[in-house]
Parts: sequence; C-alpha cells; structure tokens
Amino acid sequence: MQKTKVLLLGLMLSCISLIGFGQRSKLAPTPPMGYMTWNFYADNITEHDVRSIADAMVANGLVQLGYNYIFIDDGWQGGRDNRNNIIPDPKKFPSGIKSLADYVHSKGIKLGIYSDAAPLTCAGYTASLHFEEQDAKTFASWGIDYLKYDYCGAPPDKETARKRYKKMADALTNSGRDIVFGICEWGGRQPWTWASSVGGNLWRIDGDIRDKWAAANDAPGTPKGGIGILDAAQRNADLAGYAHPGAWNDPDMLVVGLYGRKGPSGDLGGVGCNDIEYQSQMSLWCLQAAPLMITCDVTNMNAATKRILTNKEILAIDQDPLGKQAERKINKEGWQVYLKPLTDGAYALGILNTDSTTRKYKLSLEQIGLAGKYGTLNVWTGEVKKNQSRLSYEIKPHETIVLKLTK
Ligand code: GLA
Repeated sequence: MQKTKVLLLGLMLSCISLIGFGQRSKLAPTPPMGYMTWNFYADNITEHDVRSIADAMVANGLVQLGYNYIFIDDGWQGGRDNRNNIIPDPKKFPSGIKSLADYVHSKGIKLGIYSDAAPLTCAGYTASLHFEEQDAKTFASWGIDYLKYDYCGAPPDKETARKRYKKMADALTNSGRDIVFGICEWGGRQPWTWASSVGGNLWRIDGDIRDKWAAANDAPGTPKGGIGILDAAQRNADLAGYAHPGAWNDPDMLVVGLYGRKGPSGDLGGVGCNDIEYQSQMSLWCLQAAPLMITCDVTNMNAATKRILTNKEILAIDQDPLGKQAERKINKEGWQVYLKPLTDGAYALGILNTDSTTRKYKLSLEQIGLAGKYGTLNVWTGEVKKNQSRLSYEIKPHETIVLKLTK
C-alpha cells in the first residue's frame, strides 16, 4: 500500500514537472525579438532610456513588425531591502520597475530583466543565488515577461549549472506569470544538450558578440577572445538540430547599426562593420532562427540600419512557425550555403561569400538536395525569377544573399 502511494506520488510529481516543461516551451513559439540594452547603454541604463526606447520602437514601426520585447540588461539593481526583496537602483529607476512595465505594456511591448546564478552579476550587481523563488515572485509582481539569467561568479561544472538554471526555471514556473527564460552561460557547458529540459527557452551558444565581422580579421595586437558575426554564425551552424519551437540557440545580440561605437560591443576588436556585413548578420540570424535583439540606438537609426532591421521577408523567415534552424549544406573555401525549410513547403536559401573579394557563385539546387525547378525571391533586392534550378550570383565580400524558393 505504502509502495503504491509512493509510486503514485512519484507519477504525479513527474507529470507536474512535464507539464512545467510543456508550458515553458509554449512561451517562445518563435524566436523572441526586441531590444536589449547592453551594447548601447552598458550598465548606465535608466528608466528614462527605457521609455525613450519604447517610444522610438513604436514610432519607427519596430513593435508592429514583431520586435515586442525591451530587455533591461545588467545594471538596474539597487541591492535588497530589509526583507531581502531585490530592488532597482533608486537613482536610475526612481519610479520602480512595475510602473515602467505598465508603461511599456501600454505600448504593446513586453519587459525583460536580467539576473545571475551567483551572488553577484557579471558587472558586480546583486544577483539571485539562494533567492530564486523570492526574486521570481518579485519579477512576476512587477510584470516582467522575460528573464536573462547569466552565469558570472558560478562554478564551472555542468551539473551545478543545470541545477542552478533548473532552480530558477522552476521558480519562474511557480511565480504565477509566464516568463520566458534565457540561459546565458556562453556555451561552455553545451547548454543545447540540456537547457530546454531544465526549462530554458533559449540559450547563448557562445561568448559576447563584438561589433566586428570575424576574429580572423583582427588587427595585429588586438586582445584575443572577441567573437565576430561570422564566428558566432559558424558555431551555430553545427547546432541546427537542437533548435525547435520554444527552445532556441542564441548566437547573441544584433550588432547591426552600432558602427564601432564605444561600449561592450566595441571591446576585443569590435571596430565596427559595414552595412553589407550588418545585412549578413541579419540574414544569417534569420536563417538560423535566432532570437533578434537589436542593440543600436533605436532613437536615431540611419536609413541603412532601418532597412536591414525592418525587411518583412527576412523577418518572416526568422519567425516561420515550423521553427527549423537552417542546415549548412556547403562549407567550402570562400562560401557557405544554408537551407531552412519553411512551413508552407517553401525554403529559405542563403549563400554567404566569406572571401574578401566579390565572387561569382554557381549552385545547382540538386547539389543541396532540391529536385526540380523553383521560383526565387531575393529578399534583399525584391528580384523575382521563375523556373530556377541552377543559380548564379555575384556576391560581394561578406555578403549573404537570401532567396525564398517556392515550387
Ligand atoms: C555577460 C553577458 C552579456 C551581458 C553582460 C552584463 O557578459 O554575456 O550579454 O549580459 O554579462 O554584465
């Protein structure tokens, strides 16, 4: 009898935790899109900035296009009160986070916030270790919709990471509010193999992206360790099989439009990119079904930046409900080819020129397993062609052309 009770209890508990995972995976059916404050504001972010970002995102049409999160990264914290409740810095956020959440919600935007699985965050602010339940409830009471949970100051082993992330995911599940959970341990413990099973909706696959094309192009003497657009995309290419609706590989923020400004993305060789390279980041991120977090100054974007961030065809590829990450079909000296199946039986095809000169590439669709002829729409130029089976394109250095292929 006692044994049966224990078995039943075990069964109930595993059902509850399965329901927990199931519910959590519904929170990000397509890769989250929005704005992340780190690259532009670093830890100087204030409530005034967040309101200006929200106003600008509405005014320039970003929210209507699906960029519907504003995510406050590190630097918002002001310690704990005498009941150990985490509080915002009263100078930077004098009205409190709840009233800020109300403001951005009134604009159709969700609010994200940041903490860390150790006593202090990467920039040295108060973090959530041993306060997981309490902090999750506080975030829920403020109306937070997304938590990025970092790993600075935590032990290096995988088991501890799994435990600490599960603890916070469970706390979020029990908080009474739907809160997307972003795991940020930079890929060192292969989070793609366990992040979704502990309740993560996305996981960083690598260190912080810098505003540059590739580490291989660094000037002599540049400190080592800075990851560029190509480096992050290449790493992500090997992880395509791990992404699915509710669970996404995260190659880090968009550096589109930063143009080498000083700040976190300007460190470690972040000298800036040209617009073709920024457009390539957008192309590769969308082919790879990556979260799209803008980090440039949205209150003052130039025409090229706007054009790259607001192209509806490329955004539809990222947000396609099938939720497949593109497979890299060709990876040869000077070029790479990516193929992403889409819901309606169509495909998105990306051809990237990794060389530093303009080159002509010829591709027979049979080479990548596509039989017959397809209509092609070049998502960046709008050019439409019918009955294509052999493609030939001149591609600029570091450019990625993206075609939507339909039967
Ligand atoms: C780490 C993360 C970054 C950012 C900073 C904040 O470096 O990887 O994305 O959140 O911490 O301190």
